[in-house]
Amino acid sequence: MNGLAAKLRHELAAFINSPHWRATLEAVPRELFVGDDVFQHDGSRGWVPAHRSEMRREDWLALVYSDQSLVTQVAGVMAEDATAPIANVWSTSSSTLPSLVVRMLEVARIGEGVKVLEIGTGTGYSTALMCHRLGSDAVTSIEYDPEVAQRAKIALTKAGYTPALVQGDGLGGVDRHAPYHRIIGTCAVRTIPDRWVRQVRPGGTITTPMLGWLGGGVLAHLRVGEDGTATSGFPEVVYFMPARPHAAPPLDMVKMGVGEVSHTTMDPALLCDQTGLLVAQLAAPQAQHVWIEKTLALHDVTSGAHADVQPADSTGWVVHQYGPYRLWDAVERGLAVWLEAGKPDQSAFGLTVAGGEQRVWLGSPDGPAWRLPG
Ligand SMILES: C[S@@+](CC[C@H](N)C(=O)[O-])C[C@H]1O[C@@H](n2cnc3c(N)ncnc32)[C@H](O)[C@@H]1O
Repeated sequence: MNGLAAKLRHELAAFINSPHWRATLEAVPRELFVGDDVFQHDGSRGWVPAHRSEMRREDWLALVYSDQSLVTQVAGVMAEDATAPIANVWSTSSSTLPSLVVRMLEVARIGEGVKVLEIGTGTGYSTALMCHRLGSDAVTSIEYDPEVAQRAKIALTKAGYTPALVQGDGLGGVDRHAPYHRIIGTCAVRTIPDRWVRQVRPGGTITTPMLGWLGGGVLAHLRVGEDGTATSGFPEVVYFMPARPHAAPPLDMVKMGVGEVSHTTMDPALLCDQTGLLVAQLAAPQAQHVWIEKTLALHDVTSGAHADVQPADSTGWVVHQYGPYRLWDAVERGLAVWLEAGKPDQSAFGLTVAGGEQRVWLGSPDGPAWRLPG
């Protein structure tokens, strides 16, 4: 049966171009990290637990070595403790799909001689890949959730890796092993934590998914300068689960169709485009959104500002807004800037962290810009 796992690992690694990472993927047994239980999402039932003990071994191994994210915890419940489906909650820990893990390691240029801090140990699989490639002494990893951290520690030890493991909030980094050549996030942040910038050597990099409360996601790859500033492009669009303290607050039912009425010709469906959503999020960083059929509802739970935008007739949409600021107007101004620039994708944007401020700009650092929430 070990022969089957090795064969599946070989097949999984076949798509990787870099010979180093291909060899690493072939060497690290993902089944040790995934454990014996995962959740699989089923549209109508929610998160359904799948247990190794209830499957044929070859089916289990095929699942473990498929190129998909395997969710091990939802809303704080570990898959091993789940006896029935769990609906209407977010996943809170997983083993990310291996192709994306390797892609991020490549973007971060994780290679011999670098010392790295990983934020979000999760199952420990990506930690193990880095230990295999760099040696365990070069790797520190921090995980927020105590139970997840404990499981990862057991799996890493069993696999023969001994990185420095910390349980706590990775938004503070890990000071005691700093400075690092690389920080790599495997959970998504709204803003780049100051401590990360301070814990990276000048010339080093921070590679992390970013995710805002509207759901716009990108991969940021920041280079830290001698003067402690950091700048980034957004090489790709990625969606990761949020770093726990950066997750959006709960959004309850709100009043719709009331407040100040206006008319717009700006199509709210621009928020269905991943860059359109990103721009709307930059313009209204505290807002969350839901679609109720063709009506877009935007709500800012921190201030109570609200907007809903519903189709009127062939001339456009009717907007209702209330609260301390005009939420749709802010989104519309952002979208207008993006449309004016020709609707470029995320690669036209960049991020500068300097002087206690984080600004996402379009085109160049002195182009149109939006401040990330402090
Ligand atoms: C996508 S999973 C990590 C995948 C992992 N690298 C792997 O290969 O299995 C994201 C992890 O980040 C953790 N996390 C969320 N917020 C965190 C924080 N503020 N500090 C450290 N870890 C955090 C979650 O508990 C979760 O285990």
